[in-house]
Amino acid sequence: MKQVTYEGLTFEPYILRETIDARVRELGKDIMRDCAGQRPLFVCVLNGAFPFACDLFRACEELDAEIAFIRLRSYEGTGSTGVVKEVLGLTDDIEGRTVIVVEDIIDTGNTIDRLVSDLRAKNPAAIKVATLLFKPEALVKPVSPDYVGFSIPKKFIIGFGLDLNGRARNLNDIYILKED
Ligand code: IMP
Ligand code: MG
Repeated sequence: MKQVTYEGLTFEPYILRETIDARVRELGKDIMRDCAGQRPLFVCVLNGAFPFACDLFRACEELDAEIAFIRLRSYEGTGSTGVVKEVLGLTDDIEGRTVIVVEDIIDTGNTIDRLVSDLRAKNPAAIKVATLLFKPEALVKPVSPDYVGFSIPKKFIIGFGLDLNGRARNLNDIYILKED
């Protein structure tokens, strides 16, 4: 498969779509088992999590579930700024509900840490975190996601929702920054 180039950076294929699809189906089964009899609210963290959230939500079709969207931003280029901005807030009432936060990637953990504490203040019954990708070596916050698609090294990746300055989200596979 071919390499792709954005802003002078070259990326090579890393996790193929069929591998992502199979893993998302497994995560869906885990969530359906854990949330059986509940009516969870999936909260998709825009922009990056939208393809994963779409597939994961549909992989949970045996649940009587709902989905809502929230928008956060902490990245500029290929590095986290450490400052998490809430761009679009959650309007749904989550008191007493099981909330499943759906993220594209947990890197430093700043975004999810901030989001989970904001959500906790709204008194949900439980908050679970599902992330497609997890970089454990990059963590600066004590975060342990409940559902992880793939644990990966501390490298920059794009595709399947993940971007470089807004670009490359529409790649069907996940690509990793080539180092040479
Ligand atoms: P954190 O707050 O450092 O955990 O970063 C979370 C956010 O940073 C994610 O939701 C992504 O938008 C972005 N991010 C982290 N690592 C990458 C990457 O390798 N590629 C693209 N975006 C990333
Ligand atoms: Mg993001």
